[in-house]
Amino acid sequence: MKRIKLWDKEFEISIPNADIKLAIRQMAEKMKNDLEGKETLFICILNGAFMFASELLKELDLRDAEISFLKLASYSGTNSTGTVKELIGLNEDIKGRTVVILEDIVDTGHTIKGVIEQVVQKGAAEVKIATLLFKPDALKVDLKLDYVGIVIPNDFIIGFGLDYNRRGRNFKDIYTLVKV
Ligand code: IMP
Ligand code: MG
Repeated sequence: MKRIKLWDKEFEISIPNADIKLAIRQMAEKMKNDLEGKETLFICILNGAFMFASELLKELDLRDAEISFLKLASYSGTNSTGTVKELIGLNEDIKGRTVVILEDIVDTGHTIKGVIEQVVQKGAAEVKIATLLFKPDALKVDLKLDYVGIVIPNDFIIGFGLDYNRRGRNFKDIYTLVKV
């Protein structure tokens, strides 16, 4: 098993890149049917979703798509703080549009819930949620996820965009924290 150390913690490979890519390709197939012919605005939630968004949008290959970014922060170390800070906001006119929110992972669900509320409040006609990863056992809010890549247990992970104290986002595979 491949292991890496970030700061004080050890992580062990749990989802190889080939499995991540397959999940994204399958998601893109489903999405294509729903979004073909629509002028969709994708909103990538930074920092974590940058790699997922990049892979998915290339796979989707849609003609009239637009892409924007929203930068949020809620995690400190290996725990969600429960409060979501907005570091870069949305400037786009969302009124009447089909919006697809691209998130790396839904954990407690607080982050994505806040984003949905903001997008709805700005007048989106349709809001869909696509998340690469989902931890159903950690979910604390009522939420409907339209596209889910991989369902995982309630463990802390890094890689493919996800970090532990700013490090680990660059790895192409996903690693799980080794419990001591
Ligand atoms: P939520 O608001 O609790 O759903 O948390 C969502 C955000 O927390 C995600 O967008 C991630 O940035 C971060 N997060 C949740 N779980 C993990 C994890 O296992 N590793 C790294 N970041 C995570
Ligand atoms: Mg995130």
